[in-house]
Amino acid sequence: MHHFDYRNGLLHAEGVELGAIARAVGTPVYVYSSATLERHYRVFKEAVGEKSHVFYAVKANGNLGVLMTLAKLGAGADTVSEGEIRKALAAGIPAGRIVFSGVGKSAEELAFAVEAGIYQVNVESEGELEVLSNIAEQRGRRQAIVLRVNPEIGAGGHAKITTGGAANKFGVSWSEAERLYIRAANMPGVAIKGLAVHIGSQIFDFSALETAFRRMRGMIEKLAAQGLPASRLDLGGGVGVPYEIGYPFSYGTDSLQAYGRMVREVTAGLDVELGFEPGRLIAGNAGLLLTRVLYLNERADRTFLVVDAAMNDLVRPAMYEAHHEIWPVTRKPDAPIRAYDVVGPICESSDTFAVERELPELKPGDLIAIMTAGAYGASMSSTYNQRLLVPEVLVKDQDFAVTRPRQTFEELLGTDRAPGWLA
Ligand code: LLP
Repeated sequence: MHHFDYRNGLLHAEGVELGAIARAVGTPVYVYSSATLERHYRVFKEAVGEKSHVFYAVKANGNLGVLMTLAKLGAGADTVSEGEIRKALAAGIPAGRIVFSGVGKSAEELAFAVEAGIYQVNVESEGELEVLSNIAEQRGRRQAIVLRVNPEIGAGGHAKITTGGAANKFGVSWSEAERLYIRAANMPGVAIKGLAVHIGSQIFDFSALETAFRRMRGMIEKLAAQGLPASRLDLGGGVGVPYEIGYPFSYGTDSLQAYGRMVREVTAGLDVELGFEPGRLIAGNAGLLLTRVLYLNERADRTFLVVDAAMNDLVRPAMYEAHHEIWPVTRKPDAPIRAYDVVGPICESSDTFAVERELPELKPGDLIAIMTAGAYGASMSSTYNQRLLVPEVLVKDQDFAVTRPRQTFEELLGTDRAPGWLA
């Protein structure tokens, strides 16, 4: 479910025609829909229970407009760096609704988080526990934490985004969790509140999640029996979104309700506050990458459709063999269908968005939309090939705002410094 649709044959984001955005901002450009973000947040929150804490995973899309939209709905933030904490705060998400995850938080970042007074640090190793406790103690604080446990159950849409397996770097090992929990309970700078788990991303197999969640429940009960009752359980993110039309998953209220039901069943009778860290689910199909056809490169056996967006703007196809639907901005029902390899200008073959993709015939100058690009699109973009960082636009009804202007060449070139011996 999203708010990108054809009106009079032209693709719109809510009430705004994409052609108008291309004329105003140029291409390539990311376009986000407020109504879609809002809907996903509300539907998820409803599915997991209004009392649960929803910490939106900022890494999926940290655009200020996106964060402000979610902040207004009362969302919290799951962050993984000082930059993300700062961004969440700047967007109006209060420190009391921010959690800080990640395997490699530096001492400086932990100090920043403690001083900001964030809700919770999800601690992932014994070393981090020691560093954090010292930092908080020195400041006369006691930081609320949960222990992220590796449940030795991985899942996800691709090996590179599976995090819960025993071989993955995330969390403290299952066999060490109890000892570390007890240790944390006796440390002066931390207040241990419970456990966290996150087993991967783009997950449709709720049974893998269920198994992991049941393990967490078991651990909580074991700790409680030793006089260490947990009050929080953070169940992470990871719920998948459909990238392909006809994907065997009906993404909508039903599936999220099934997820919510599963969570309720697994946690029934546990007296804990639940937390969730959805990223892709909120932002994924709330965004598209609008790009213009530059050239048609006809070969004997294939036609390359060269567009002005590239892997530096959207790396998912190159990095994870990810599929993204491609929609023409002008619908031409009578146009012949052609198979195109949709490629960007970057000097490597992995700069390919789609292979042999059937699309209505296109010509240079035409606009196309690479769909479901709202999560891990702009947030993973780079300036590879010295290309300018792609701009971002947020649509609200009939209105749109440039929430990140296109980088300028002055900005791009201005970040480097000549070494003294060459200046
Ligand atoms: N919580 C933690 C601790 C995470 O590591 C992640 C994602 C999330 C929450 C949010 O997961 P989500 O709900 O979005 O699945 N760049 C990849 C995805 C990497 C996910 C990393 N961790 C992609 O484009 O598919």
